Amino acid sequence: MEFESLQRRRSSSVSANQNNASIREKRPKRSEVIAKNKTIEELIKTARAEKDHLAPFPDFRRFHVNGLSVCLKSGHGNKLSSPVKHYIQSLLKLNMEGPYGSEWPEEEKVKRKEMVLPEAHYVFVHEVANSNADEMTTVLTAAETSTCLEDSGPLVGFVQYRFVLEEEIPVLYVYELQLEPRVQGKGVGKFLMQLVELMAQKSRMSAVMLTVQKANVLAMDFYINKLRYIISAMSPSRVNPMDREDELDQLDKDGSSY
Ligand SMILES: CC(C)(COP(=O)(O)OP(=O)(O)OC[C@H]1O[C@@H](n2cnc3c(N)ncnc32)[C@H](O)[C@@H]1OP(=O)(O)O)[C@@H](O)C(=O)NCCC(=O)NCCS
Repeated sequence: MEFESLQRRRSSSVSANQNNASIREKRPKRSEVIAKNKTIEELIKTARAEKDHLAPFPDFRRFHVNGLSVCLKSGHGNKLSSPVKHYIQSLLKLNMEGPYGSEWPEEEKVKRKEMVLPEAHYVFVHEVANSNADEMTTVLTAAETSTCLEDSGPLVGFVQYRFVLEEEIPVLYVYELQLEPRVQGKGVGKFLMQLVELMAQKSRMSAVMLTVQKANVLAMDFYINKLRYIISAMSPSRVNPMDREDELDQLDKDGSSY
């Protein structure tokens, strides 16, 4: 299966790449390299230990758009209930069996293992039951709008992400972004990616990365043309043009920072 690795990288990393020549001339001391690696390890450790990455962004807990009202909840791979695990598996199958084709059975096994790992972080999207987007804003109190209540409506999608080291760069890696077909095309995906980028910035990650199958034309269009992610220099397709995987990366729209 062909993939693209996409990435949105902070400008500091980009300018570092642009200055490769001067870096070569003046190699950092071993002690500086060790200190830098230690700092990066600490960043990742701290980000992974954070219990609720949504907490600093109360305005993102709820989203009303195009007649749809959703609220968001954080989750962890090793704390998923059986119904949630089942939901994730079903939605993955629904959305991804087509793009993966004959490779799906093998890929499904990999995804089942990945989804429950302790380093897998989640943002779950719940539909707010019986909501009228316009009325919601006036009926709910400030406290209510900033939380996703236990009795919130059904799950309609999720993002699964991790904090990892990619080629010595600390990144927030989006493993999955999955929405039910009935809530796609309403702005939820874009909203979730904005949130994920803010989380990456808050945790001082240098980039947001993800992998898309080339056959998933709509998702490629979403990331590259709508969100302006770019194909990462680390993408398998850059090494082997026949590879069907592409890792994507997104440069800042204004060339500054997230
Ligand atoms: C890909 C996905 C996450 C995008 O999320 P979404 O909520 O549907 O996308 P949004 O509504 O936020 O769309 C953002 C932009 O992309 C466009 N877009 C999104 N889906 C589109 C589609 N199917 N066809 C055409 N345009 C689309 C929207 O028009 C919008 O453009 P605008 O900003 O100019 O108005 C979602 O469609 C999905 O879950 N797809 C199935 C699973 C999948 O492929 N995931 C990605 C795997 S890497």
